[in-house]
Amino acid sequence: MLLRGTISAPLPSLRLTSAAATPPQNVAVSWHSPTNKYSISDQDLDSRGFLLHRTIADLNLDHLNKVFVAVGFPKRDPEKIRIALEHTDSLLWMEYAKTKRPVAFARATGDGVFNAIIWDVVVDPSFQGIGLGRAVMERLVEELVDKGIGNIALYSEPRVLGFYRPLGFVADPDGIRGMVYSRKPKKQK
Ligand SMILES: CC(C)(COP(=O)(O)OP(=O)(O)OC[C@H]1O[C@@H](n2cnc3c(N)ncnc32)[C@H](O)[C@@H]1OP(=O)(O)O)[C@@H](O)C(=O)NCCC(=O)NCCS
Repeated sequence: MLLRGTISAPLPSLRLTSAAATPPQNVAVSWHSPTNKYSISDQDLDSRGFLLHRTIADLNLDHLNKVFVAVGFPKRDPEKIRIALEHTDSLLWMEYAKTKRPVAFARATGDGVFNAIIWDVVVDPSFQGIGLGRAVMERLVEELVDKGIGNIALYSEPRVLGFYRPLGFVADPDGIRGMVYSRKPKKQK
């Protein structure tokens, strides 16, 4: 389904299988602040040991790949992930200070002016359900909107639609349908 707004999601062909695990005991579950523009402020994230990054400078791609695999994405060649991230206009990830590992990630590709598509929205299963997914999405979308990008899209698996809708994503109101190229294997002669 093609959605308009701002999101990060995997390719529709990716199928996720893992269930969310119990969050670490030292991580607070409720931290909504109605006065802040985000559901979790940067300060609150920081005080709970979640450090925001907007570049891949300190990102260990093997560790990121482990998070992808943990949520059910197929394991991808780290070198290809590096190339993909180098061609990514906007990305955001969260490091858990205690382990120095990435625990949340989202990125958007696009033309920098009109269109953006969000990909690879993931939260480490051990940290799901405590607001980190929404926190990265809120900031990624804000960055795209601030750039003046009017068409923000993503692919969502049916079971994740409920995560994206409160963030402002809807099925295209004009009835426009997303399509993906599906190459058929050549017939044997
Ligand atoms: C989907 C995902 C990114 C959500 O991240 P998260 O940190 O667990 O989500 P949050 O804790 O920020 O949840 C924010 C809100 O969305 C809701 N939500 C989270 N996942 C949901 C889902 N799959 N369906 C419906 N609502 C969902 C939460 O209940 C919460 O609602 P609340 O504000 O009423 O409490 C995460 O579960 C994940 O990585 N899943 C595996 C990978 C994946 O499916 N990525 C998206 C592919 S399209």
